[in-house]
Amino acid sequence: MNKDLNVNTLLQPIIQFLQCETPQSWIDEAIKPENLPVLLTDHLICELKAAQSAMFMIRRYAVDANSAAALLEWLAPYEKFTYRHEGKWQDLAKCKLNKSMMAKSDSAYSQDLIDKMVLLIKEELHHFYQVLEMMETYGVEYQNISSSRYAKGLLKHCKTHDPDALIDKLICGAYIEARSCERFAKIAPHLDAKLGEFYTSLLRSEARHYQDYLSLATQIAQKDISTRIAFFGEQEAELISSTDADFKFHSGRPIVNLEIQNV
Ligand SMILES: [Fe+2]
Ligand SMILES: [Fe+2]
Repeated sequence: MNKDLNVNTLLQPIIQFLQCETPQSWIDEAIKPENLPVLLTDHLICELKAAQSAMFMIRRYAVDANSAAALLEWLAPYEKFTYRHEGKWQDLAKCKLNKSMMAKSDSAYSQDLIDKMVLLIKEELHHFYQVLEMMETYGVEYQNISSSRYAKGLLKHCKTHDPDALIDKLICGAYIEARSCERFAKIAPHLDAKLGEFYTSLLRSEARHYQDYLSLATQIAQKDISTRIAFFGEQEAELISSTDADFKFHSGRPIVNLEIQNV
């Protein structure tokens, strides 16, 4: 009972922020045992992408050259494993950031971006490792898969000049984190106990990531960005509600189920 109350409190602002809830047909698809390999593999890659995009932001906007190099070094073993199948996944547990980050002196928001994003990267890389543990438990061997249309579909609307480009990317980050959190909560009760507990355990950090992205966007913009937030909310809701032949963690309404319902 208490656990449910906590989850509901955590989810309430997220449900309000998102312009639509995940369609039931996506949940029905996601909990099919035959879709577990694609769900876990895509989730794994999403964790790496979350770390990569946060790292891109601090490298580009917030840290000096030596810190930027240390960040790349930290991520390299994860990228080698994911894209080139190099190394043993168990060795990723030893990867650490070996240098403290130095903020660029000419930016008012560098330190805040570093503080929030370094913590976020640490957590995403830990999630990456935890998903690999789940894959091991459920006998899912890692194989490359293509990315879904979701992140590209959002990011293509980002402006190309700064600071608007950074603000747009932060807003997209908030939506991606919020949707992940909502989906984790939606599928957790339908999965077996171990997997369900794992997805529930991710809610707190993903909810904080969404808030951190949103507060950074507001802080850096120093103007009202509600129209821009609403714009990305509409794009996001369209990607989630429209039909999508490619089932993934952030995919839209599955076509298969619609066809079955229409028969
Ligand atoms: Fe994560
Ligand atoms: Fe996250």
